[in-house]
Amino acid sequence: MKKTRIVIIGAGAVGSTTAYTLLLRERADELVLIDANRAKAVGDALDMNHGMPFVGRTKVWAGSYEDCAAADLIVITAGAAQKPGESRIDLLKRNVGIFEQIVDQVLRFNTNGILLIASNPVDIMSYFSQRRSGWPAHRVIGSGTLLDSARFRYLIGEELQLDSRSIHAHIMGEHGDSELPVWSTANVAGIRLALDDEQQDRIFTQTRDAAYQIIEAKGSTYYAIALALDRICTAILRDEGAVLNVSTLLTDYCGVSDVYLGVPCIVDRQGVREVLQPDLSEQERTLLRQSGDKLKALIQSL
Ligand code: NAD
Ligand code: LAC
Repeated sequence: MKKTRIVIIGAGAVGSTTAYTLLLRERADELVLIDANRAKAVGDALDMNHGMPFVGRTKVWAGSYEDCAAADLIVITAGAAQKPGESRIDLLKRNVGIFEQIVDQVLRFNTNGILLIASNPVDIMSYFSQRRSGWPAHRVIGSGTLLDSARFRYLIGEELQLDSRSIHAHIMGEHGDSELPVWSTANVAGIRLALDDEQQDRIFTQTRDAAYQIIEAKGSTYYAIALALDRICTAILRDEGAVLNVSTLLTDYCGVSDVYLGVPCIVDRQGVREVLQPDLSEQERTLLRQSGDKLKALIQSL
C-alpha cells in the first residue's frame, strides 16, 4: 500500500511544532522536514525519532526537494516571521522572494500534490503559490482564518462558559488586520449568541489582535497554528468533507474575485471541494469586499 507522506518546508517554530503534532496524532506514515538551515531540520528529525518508542510508526527525516515527489501534501511554513510591532503584511516582499525559490523547487519533483501554505501574509502567499505553480486553486490552500476562527470560538466559549467545540462562529477575510467576525450567523445549537455590543467588540478585538499579544509575550505563535494545520491535513488525508475556514481563490464571492481569502470551504482529498457562501449581512459583505480590496492592492504592488 502506498505510504502517506507529508513534506514540511520550513522547520522553524511553526514547521517543527506542526511536525510534532502530526507525529503525536499519527497522521502520516512519513514526515519529511526541509529547511534552508539543514542542521535545524536534521536536529528536529533526530529529536523526534528518539520519541518513536513512545508513539509508534511514523518515519521522520530531514530531506530534500526530491522527497516532494511522493508527497501527498506539502506544507509550507518557511520564511520570515513577525517581530514585535510588525504586521503580517510587513513580511510580504521578503516571503515572496523565498516562495519563488520554494515553489519552483517543489514543481521540479511534484505536479499533482496539494500545497498547504501557512507562511504570512498567508492569503497573498497562497495566491502567489497558485499563480506560480499553475496548479488548480483547489490544490493550493492557505490556512486562512481557521486559526482566527478557533481563537474566536475559544473566546466566545470562555465568555459563555461553554465548550468552544459547541460554538459555531466564523472569522472571514484576510488572516490579519482586515478580517471580520460573522456575528450574523454565529450560534450555539442554532440559537443566536446572547452577547451585547461591548462583549462582541471585546471578543473580536482580542481575536484579531491575538498574534500581536503572543508575539509581544514570547516572540512567535506556533501551538494553535500547528493544531489548525493538523486539522486541515487530516480533513484532506481522510477525505473528510470537513467545513473549515481556509484561504481559497474567490470568484464572484459577495462581489470579490481573483484574490485568496479565508471563507468556509468543504475540504476533502481533492483539497477544497467546494467554497461555501453563508448568508452574510450587508455590513459583513462590505467588510469582506474591503478585506479583498486591501489584499488585491497589495498583490498589484508586487
Ligand atoms: P521561524 O523563523 O521560526 O522559521 C522559519 C523557518 O523558515 C526557518 O527555520 C528558516 O530557516 C526557514 N527558511 C527560510 N527561508 C527558507 C527557504 N528558502 N527554504 C526553506 N526554509 C527556509 O518562523 P515561524 O515562527 O516558524 O513562522 C513561519 C511563518 O509562519 C511566518 O511567516 C509566520 O508569520 C507564519 N505563521 C503563520 C500562521 C498562520 O496562522 N498562518 C501562524 C503562525 C505563524
Ligand atoms: C498568528 C500568526 C502570526 O498566530 O499569523 O496569527
